[in-house]
Amino acid sequence: MPASIRSLRPLRQVAPTRVAPEMMNGQWVGNSGPLVIEADLKGLREDKEKVLYATAVQHSIRATQDKLSHSFVLKLDILQGEPKEIPLTLSGAGEIRQVTGAGLLDWSIRQETNGARFLVLRFPKTDKPFTQFVATVTAETELKELPATVTPLTLAPAQPALFHGYVKVEAVPELAVGDEVIVTGYDLGMNTAGGFAQYIRVPAAWVIRRPAGLSLREAMLLGTAGLTAGLCVDKLEQAGLTPAAGPVLVTGASGGVGSIAVALLASLGYDVAASTGKAEQGEFLRQLGARQIVPRSELQEGSEKALLKERWAGAVDTVGGDILFNVVKSLRYGGSAACCGLTAGMGFKGSVAPFILRGVNLLGVDSVELPLVVKASMWDKLSLQWKLGSLESLAEEVTLEQLPAAIEQILAGRMVGRVLVRLD
Ligand SMILES: NC(=O)c1ccc[n+]([C@@H]2O[C@H](COP(=O)([O-])OP(=O)(O)OC[C@H]3O[C@@H](n4cnc5c(N)ncnc54)[C@H](OP(=O)(O)O)[C@@H]3O)[C@@H](O)[C@H]2O)c1
Repeated sequence: MPASIRSLRPLRQVAPTRVAPEMMNGQWVGNSGPLVIEADLKGLREDKEKVLYATAVQHSIRATQDKLSHSFVLKLDILQGEPKEIPLTLSGAGEIRQVTGAGLLDWSIRQETNGARFLVLRFPKTDKPFTQFVATVTAETELKELPATVTPLTLAPAQPALFHGYVKVEAVPELAVGDEVIVTGYDLGMNTAGGFAQYIRVPAAWVIRRPAGLSLREAMLLGTAGLTAGLCVDKLEQAGLTPAAGPVLVTGASGGVGSIAVALLASLGYDVAASTGKAEQGEFLRQLGARQIVPRSELQEGSEKALLKERWAGAVDTVGGDILFNVVKSLRYGGSAACCGLTAGMGFKGSVAPFILRGVNLLGVDSVELPLVVKASMWDKLSLQWKLGSLESLAEEVTLEQLPAAIEQILAGRMVGRVLVRLD
């Protein structure tokens, strides 16, 4: 058979011959009848080389509260052939906003019936074929709320000869001049002064844009205390606490963290017991939503015992010391205590008994060093589904001149609710 015929694809065969036929004008002729070959010549019209290319992608993701902003720098090295178009597989959630690159004709998104998505880059026909192409692709993934983990949008060549890439993720608050912001924790108030100043300079990585659902005043009525109370309640709920589980105790209830924890738990439908050393604050705590008041002295008894009567389905402990472990010993089977403070002391006498006999949990809460994205999502929660209506009733307002006296109150353990400092 002639070499040119070997590459034809027979589509229909009629009356195959048994003796060696001859070919004339595309038809086999012989003494047993014709053999007709019809062929698809499309693939043979141009003698094109297969396009081979190597791809490198640098992918940067900026995570803000409402979106992930992607920037891809895409480098194609054409190893063989002249590409007219190159498809890149798009996976994950997100939309391409812009593609730029010298020598690019245009681009489009192609969605196939099986859901596969491609970014298709098209190139003009040129006299001098290109060997390298660099494009910048920007994309956005809208977020309803800041997720704990993300599966990022990815862009990868559909048929690469070689491919490598890397992804860099940064959580950066997108801030503009004049934006209202919240800064709590990290080094502020520790080695970085300025919490009571009108102007301060702090790293951007400490800054959260004020959520739309909270005014600046409301944000500072909550402050670090509100953030910490929210984190305690969140941890308890993550450990399985629900309002149906039974009463929840708050220790140091008249203080900043305690009073907001009482108000928050009550607003979420919990049966709240408030422990306080200030008998005169019972009415204040009931107004915040506490159903029972537990004298602090009651929680100071029983340190010598391994277990105490089961009372609480959960607890927010702001005081630490032996009170904390007495609370742990009073948890109902499977209950949890969130521990965040130390006004009663750092250390406590304890044993494994409540853990191994009642399966209870002691949960640590830190609102200072935890990642900014987690802080931001708690501020969002406090501004929306956990927004408190009773904040004004929690606070006393002082001027900068009155501040030292208020700090004395805090140090003496006599603080009730929150103190809001007026800086003007
Ligand atoms: N983990 C974190 O990230 C984090 C964040 C913020 C605060 N904290 C800590 O949490 C604790 C509470 O903070 P806060 O802002 O609520 O303080 P606060 O406003 O001063 O309140 C503390 C409350 O503890 C009670 N108390 C005082 N002295 C006590 C003692 N000797 N024994 C037992 N209870 C005593 C008092 O409430 P009653 O009179 O009603 O009992 C007092 O109002 C502090 O230790 C603080 O350092 C931790």
